[in-house]
Amino acid sequence: MTRRANEQSADLAALDIRPHARGFGAAVLGVDLSRPLNERQIVGIRQAWLTHQVIYFPDQPMSHPQLDTFTRSFGDWGNDPYVAPIAGHEHILEIRREPHEKVSPFGGAWHSDWSFQPCPPSATILHAKEVPPVGGETWYADGYAAYEALPGSEQHRLEALTVIHSARRPYSHEGYQAGRGPERSMRILPSDKAYETQLHPLIRTHPETGRKALWVNAVYAIGIVDLPEEEARQLLKRLCDYATESQFIYRHRWSENMLTMWDNRSVQHCARGGYNGHRRIMHRTTVAGDPPR
Ligand code: SIN
Repeated sequence: MTRRANEQSADLAALDIRPHARGFGAAVLGVDLSRPLNERQIVGIRQAWLTHQVIYFPDQPMSHPQLDTFTRSFGDWGNDPYVAPIAGHEHILEIRREPHEKVSPFGGAWHSDWSFQPCPPSATILHAKEVPPVGGETWYADGYAAYEALPGSEQHRLEALTVIHSARRPYSHEGYQAGRGPERSMRILPSDKAYETQLHPLIRTHPETGRKALWVNAVYAIGIVDLPEEEARQLLKRLCDYATESQFIYRHRWSENMLTMWDNRSVQHCARGGYNGHRRIMHRTTVAGDPPR
C-alpha cells in the first residue's frame, strides 16, 4: 500500500460510524470537530451524511470560529433570513428559549429549512450549547422512505406535481413568528419578502445520491400548481401527515456539545417542546444548496 492510500484508510477507519437499525440516522465518533478536518475526514463525513441523512457527533465542544470552519468544510454558506444572527458571527443563528418563555419552540412545526428559497440549504448544522433535562428533542422524518413506501401508481401521479412554497405563514408581518418580540428571546425579522413564492417539485431527486424523496412540508408549502385551492390544501395535508408518520421518524435526543448535521434535501424536521421552565440554546449554521429538481 502507498503512503497516501495508507493515510486515507487510516483516516476513514478513524471515523467510527454507528448507523441506526434502519439506516436513517447515525452517530459519528472518532473525530475532533474543534480541529480543521483533513480532506479524507471531510469525504468520510460527507459520505456518512449522504447515506444516513442525519448524523450526530456527541461531546464536541466548539467555539464560534470552529463551528464556522466545520460548516465551510462542506460548501458555501447558506442564506439565513428572518432571524438576527449572533453579533459578530453573521452566519450563526442562536436558537434560544428561556425558562419563562411560553411561545412554541422556534422550528416547532415540521419543515425543511428555507424550502421557499430558489436554492434551499443542503445541510443544516446544529450545535447544542445548553440542553434541558427533559424534552427539547428534534424529530426527523425520512423523505426517501416516505416516497419509497408509496404505491408505484401514486409515485407516478405525484411526480407530475409542483408545489408552491412561501415563508408567509411564519415570517410575513402577520406571520405567526412576527410581533411576539417581548415573548420570545430570539429576534425574528419579519419582511414583505416573505410573500414571495417559489415553485419546487413535490418529488425531489437528490443531486448527489440520485434517490427520490417526498419533499413537502406543512410550514412552507402553500399550494400546488394547477390544482384548485381546496383540493391542493387537502392533498398537502394528506401528504404532510403521511410523510411524518411514526414509521418514517427518528426522535433525536440531545446532550450538551453534541453537533448534528442533516440533509434538507431528503429530511424534514421539527423542534419539540416539553421543557418549560428550562433553558435550551442551540447554534445553527447552514450550507448552500442547489435548485430542487
Ligand atoms: C430548527 O428548525 O432549525 C430548529 C431545530 C431545533 O431547535 O431543534
